Amino acid sequence: MIKTLEWTNSGVRFIDQTKLPMEEVYVTCRTYQEVATAIRDMIVRGAPAIGVAAAMGIALGVQQSAAKDVASLRLDFEQIAKTIGETRPTAVNLFWAIERMKKTFASPRAQNVPEIKAALVREAQQMYVEDIAANQAMGQHGATLMPASGGVLTHCNAGGLATCGYGTALGVIRAAVASGKKIHVYADETRPFLQGSRLTAWELMKDGIPTTVIADNMAGAMMKQGKIAAAVVGADRIAANGDVANKIGTYTVAVLAKEHGIPFYVAAPWSTVDMNTPDGDQIPIEQRSAKEVTHHAGKQVAPDGVLVENPAFDVTPNKYVTAIITERGIARAPYDASLRELASSSSMAVPA
Ligand code: MRU
Repeated sequence: MIKTLEWTNSGVRFIDQTKLPMEEVYVTCRTYQEVATAIRDMIVRGAPAIGVAAAMGIALGVQQSAAKDVASLRLDFEQIAKTIGETRPTAVNLFWAIERMKKTFASPRAQNVPEIKAALVREAQQMYVEDIAANQAMGQHGATLMPASGGVLTHCNAGGLATCGYGTALGVIRAAVASGKKIHVYADETRPFLQGSRLTAWELMKDGIPTTVIADNMAGAMMKQGKIAAAVVGADRIAANGDVANKIGTYTVAVLAKEHGIPFYVAAPWSTVDMNTPDGDQIPIEQRSAKEVTHHAGKQVAPDGVLVENPAFDVTPNKYVTAIITERGIARAPYDASLRELASSSSMAVPA
C-alpha cells in the first residue's frame, strides 16, 4: 500500500503529490506550520488524508509545546488547531479531525501535560488505522454495485493517495477487481490540478488495473459511445440531504451520467458526512489561485490579465446520486432519511 502519510519520530512524512507521477519523493514536515503548508499547497490532499494529516499536525505541534501546565498547553493547542483549520475550507474531514483531537485533549483519561501529549499522538495514529479499515469496508459494500465488466469513470483522485491507503472510490474499484470483476477505469484528467491523470492513473497502473486517461471534456462522448457502465467518485463533504461537494467537474459528470442512464455513485467515509450542514448550498467552496488555470506545467496558457474563476469544488445535487457508499453501509434516496439512519448505526458494517 502507498504510504501517503505517516507519523515518524522526526515528524509527519508525506509522499509529495505535487511531484507525481514524474518523481516519487517524500517530505517530512517537522513542525505543525510545515504540515499546514503541506495541506494548503496540496502536497497532501484528498479529504480523508487531509483529516488525518491535520490530526498528525496537531499532535506534532502539541508535542513540541514548551507548556508546563495544562492551561498553557490548551492555549498552544488552540493556536495550532486554528492554523491547521485555516488551510482548506471544503473537506469537512479537516474539521472532524480537529474536533476529535479537541475531545482527546479534554478526555478525563489524559490529566497532565505528558499524558495529553501521548494521547494526542495515539489518537492521530488511531485515525490513520480507522481510515484504512473504513476504506476496505466501503470497498466491500461498493464492489457489489460495480458492473461485472465494463468501463467505470472516476473523477479526481479518491484513491490511496487521497486517504491513508486503499481509497474510497478507487477502493470500491479495487475491491470489485479483487472479486473478479473485469473493470476498465476511465480517469478524468481533472483540470486544473490534474489529480486524475497524475495520481489516479499512477496508482491504478501500479496495481495493474486497466486505465484510460481522458480529458474532462471527453466524458460525455465516452458515455454516448457506451464505454461507461458506471461512475464512482469520492466526496469532500456530504450534506445531510445527500448533496455532495467534490472536485470541480463532478457535477458535470453526474448530470451526464443521468442523461445517459448510467449509475453515479459516491464513496466516502462517515467522517465526510456533515449532518450539521442541511444542504449543499451551505458548503463553503474553496477558491484557489488563478495561476492554476492560467498556467500549465509552469507555462502560461492564457493571456496576461484575463479574468479567471477557480473554484476547487462543486456541489452535485442529491437527485443525481444513485447511492452513497460508506463504511456503515449504502445510503439511497431519500437521503435525509437514509443518512439519518446510518448516523445512528454502528460505526462499521460488515457487508453480508
Ligand atoms: O483538491 P483535492 O485534490 O484535495 O480534492 C480531492 C477530491 O475532490 C476528492 O475526490 C475527495 O477529497 C475525496 S478523496 C477520497
